[in-house]
Amino acid sequence: MRIISAKDYQQMSRHSANVVSAQVILKPDSVIGLATGSTPMGMYTQLIKWYQKGDLDFSNVVTFNLDEYVGLGKEDEHSYYNFMLKNFFDHINIKKENVHIPSGIADDIDLECSEYERKIKSYGIDFQVLGIGHNGHIGFNEPYTHFGRDTRKVELAELTILANSRFFENPNDVPTHAISMGMRTIMQAKKILLLASGKHKASVLKQALYGKIDPIVPASILQLHTDITVVADMDALSEI
Ligand code: GLP
Repeated sequence: MRIISAKDYQQMSRHSANVVSAQVILKPDSVIGLATGSTPMGMYTQLIKWYQKGDLDFSNVVTFNLDEYVGLGKEDEHSYYNFMLKNFFDHINIKKENVHIPSGIADDIDLECSEYERKIKSYGIDFQVLGIGHNGHIGFNEPYTHFGRDTRKVELAELTILANSRFFENPNDVPTHAISMGMRTIMQAKKILLLASGKHKASVLKQALYGKIDPIVPASILQLHTDITVVADMDALSEI
């Protein structure tokens, strides 16, 4: 495990954008797993800037997002699909057919999950970007998730609903279920980049990186990955 420490959120965003850039430059047809949430937003902004300067080319990059809310369609402003367009894809030269995000309004959600997993397996993820939830979740794999699970429909923990309610006008509008890549899907990525920022992530980051490997803290399984880079700011690293 490599830990790259940054002085603040801005530097964490720049460092992580550098790591993603290196991946895209070394392998222009990289298959990249992407995350939503506040943490990677600065990284996306930085990548857009470097793309606009002509330093990056995403035309052969393929992406798979970690998760999507069940019940929210592409057009819904709160969907992760919309988040990704707004914060990244609309500003770079990625081909829309190379973007993969599960549909939260598919008629058959279980089929949508198994198809998504099949597609991921057929490509193979070279590089997976992750954030970490307050309770140690990655994607939407909540505490007590079996480490051997693939993409599937999951129920969100109360803490997650509360944390994500800041993105919604009304906390009651936060969906209770999501489609999420499983722990096994994530662990099969060749490389992983974990991002963390802020004091509120310090305790869970310590548990994830140095605590017991236990489904109570889903991210703790990352200790077993053979190629993981953590980019975190001083606040998030303050308990390590
Ligand atoms: C969300 C997402 C995760 C994300 C996490 C942390 O629920 N499903 O992929 O990593 O919560 O979000 P944030 O970066 O906003 O703290």
